[in-house]
Amino acid sequence: MKVKNLNDLQKIAEKGIKLLHPEKTKIMVGMGTCGIATGAGEVFEAISEEVKQQKLNVVISPTCCIGFCQREPLVDILQPSRPRMSYGDMTPERARELVKALAGGEFKKEWTLAKIVEEENLVEDRIWKYPVDSPPKELEEIPIYEQLPFYSKQRKIVLRNCGYINPENIEEYIARGGYRTLYKVLKELQPEQVIAEITKSGLRGRGGAGFPTGRKWDICRRAEGDIKYIICNGDEGDPGAYMDRGVLEGDPHSVLEGMIIGAYAIGAREGYIYVRAEYPLAVKNIGIAIKQAEDYGLLGENIFDSGFDFTFKVDRGAGAFVCGEETALIAALEGRVGEPRLRPPYPAQNGLWGKPTNINNVETWANVPVIMARGADWYSQYGTEASKGTKVFSLVGKIVNTGLVEVPMGITLREIVYDVGGGIPDGKQFKAMQTGGPSGGCIPQQFLDLPIDYERLKEVGAIMGSGGMIVMDEETCMVDVAKYFVDFLKGESCGKCTSCREGIERMHEILTDITEGRGREGDIELLEELSEVIRDTSLCALGGTAPNPVLTTIRYFRDEYEAHIREKHCPARVCKALVSYYIDPEKCEACMICLKNCPVEAIEGGKNQIHVIDQSKCTKCGTCLDVCPPRFAAVKKISGTPVPAPRSPKERVLVRTK
Ligand SMILES: Cc1cc2nc3c(=O)[nH]c(=O)nc-3n(C[C@H](O)[C@H](O)[C@H](O)COP(=O)(O)O)c2cc1C
Repeated sequence: MKVKNLNDLQKIAEKGIKLLHPEKTKIMVGMGTCGIATGAGEVFEAISEEVKQQKLNVVISPTCCIGFCQREPLVDILQPSRPRMSYGDMTPERARELVKALAGGEFKKEWTLAKIVEEENLVEDRIWKYPVDSPPKELEEIPIYEQLPFYSKQRKIVLRNCGYINPENIEEYIARGGYRTLYKVLKELQPEQVIAEITKSGLRGRGGAGFPTGRKWDICRRAEGDIKYIICNGDEGDPGAYMDRGVLEGDPHSVLEGMIIGAYAIGAREGYIYVRAEYPLAVKNIGIAIKQAEDYGLLGENIFDSGFDFTFKVDRGAGAFVCGEETALIAALEGRVGEPRLRPPYPAQNGLWGKPTNINNVETWANVPVIMARGADWYSQYGTEASKGTKVFSLVGKIVNTGLVEVPMGITLREIVYDVGGGIPDGKQFKAMQTGGPSGGCIPQQFLDLPIDYERLKEVGAIMGSGGMIVMDEETCMVDVAKYFVDFLKGESCGKCTSCREGIERMHEILTDITEGRGREGDIELLEELSEVIRDTSLCALGGTAPNPVLTTIRYFRDEYEAHIREKHCPARVCKALVSYYIDPEKCEACMICLKNCPVEAIEGGKNQIHVIDQSKCTKCGTCLDVCPPRFAAVKKISGTPVPAPRSPKERVLVRTK
């Protein structure tokens, strides 16, 4: 069937509503890559088998990342006349028990995370209410989803459908208002009106630089030439970041719809989605989405009888970070070596195959249908003066609740770390937050109350980047962190320009020296000088921003650099070359546990003999510290002080008092 009008869309929506909210029990499993990595596939299988065994008449449906990655695998259960229940930390065994409980008219209260009482349909401004007028008594104590600290500060615009729909069913997307905005745009608005609305909304590119999206579209629209292209940048090479993967896997149609709207506004008839090959589920789901949209005539010729034609191609990136840079990405799409080139000319004037080309990030595109549906004024109520809307972050590192979170711009770091993120595990102290990917900056504790937007992050030496947020605790060595990111960038520099290729390599050498005890006076100043040169003379922003992790860690944690250089001391006791393990003879009870577990047989001792680590054999793997029973706590990790001389064999005979 080819969709021609809103009536046709409505018919598909009705099919979709039956899939979204069937009149029988529906079990949904979060099968995004994050879910699968924690065993969602096995959970799905166990549910399917047990459902068969119990002869239950239920629907089992995959969805993608529901967001609360820390508690994966996640399962949601929808039952007629009950709120939707969310379950976390599922295992195949628990899944079977849960199905058995369902068969017996029970539910497993102890595994519930929250109940969901309504689902918001952002595009149509409608709310799907679960029947909760007289909720069963046993559900009263279970918190409502939005009341969980993890969710209460979030506002899901980009992730509006993630975890609610099966991304493989276009009907479910349409049931949540999908492709209606496209209809409105193609039938009722002129391209200039679309651009004006996007400009008014204040949407800025979510790929890193934060360039105003409406302005970019306008430049491309005005560029000379009949053939124009649009591109979705789904390269996402930053370590620790998975925002775009989450959207492409969980709600690919939102990106497609945003792109078709953008293409109409700009005057393009062909679009490309560049997505890294390491995201096979994203590649698969976007492929399915394109096929389904084509089958319904939502892609191809004469969409909605509007005279507008548009087609898509998917291109898989081979996993080079630099290919996320727009000119390198274009080179890769054209089949050339993925290296950036000097700008101007910008892609908007001279892009793919030399034609005007508009590139936007996955998240930027996914915002578009909602902005066009609800209006610029609605959208710009969220955010700060200069940074409107929400931002998706992947919150990872030393944080209680890791996950994909979408928060309004202007939220403070403290709210993200302590409210959404639930704080630092094991009662440890927050030390820094790394934002903006490998070339972002490390923001220390004194800026916890900083409202997050493009400008404020820049002021403290960091960048928004595409949305990676890595939380670090007191046990993190900031020199080591800088070395880690510089090492990543060293491998990812394409090598085309000397200052980036050689400069990052030199920075890495100096940082390696510092972390391995060969640091010298003047190294910090040399790093600062090098940073300036690399930043000012590199061809693209990879080199231009590469010094950020070095400069911010020097700026906020200079004392740590100095301790490494002057005292050969790693205050966080992370840098292997600067730490030693030793056994406190006053505490050792000669239990033999460390001795038996040491992989290199570096520990001497016996049943009645206090143990000693042979420093010449020790590889500093830390196993002895891990296995030493906490009641003895005899193994110590030290840095900056010499290892105390071992006692003589006679003095090491253990005299037990008990
Ligand atoms: C080294 C490097 C890597 C980049 N990687 C990405 C990426 O993975 N995804 C992305 O959208 N933008 C990335 N960018 C930014 C793009 O060049 C471009 O600015 C962006 O795709 C524009 O989309 P936006 O306006 O929606 O942000 C990268 C830039 C650099 C310098």
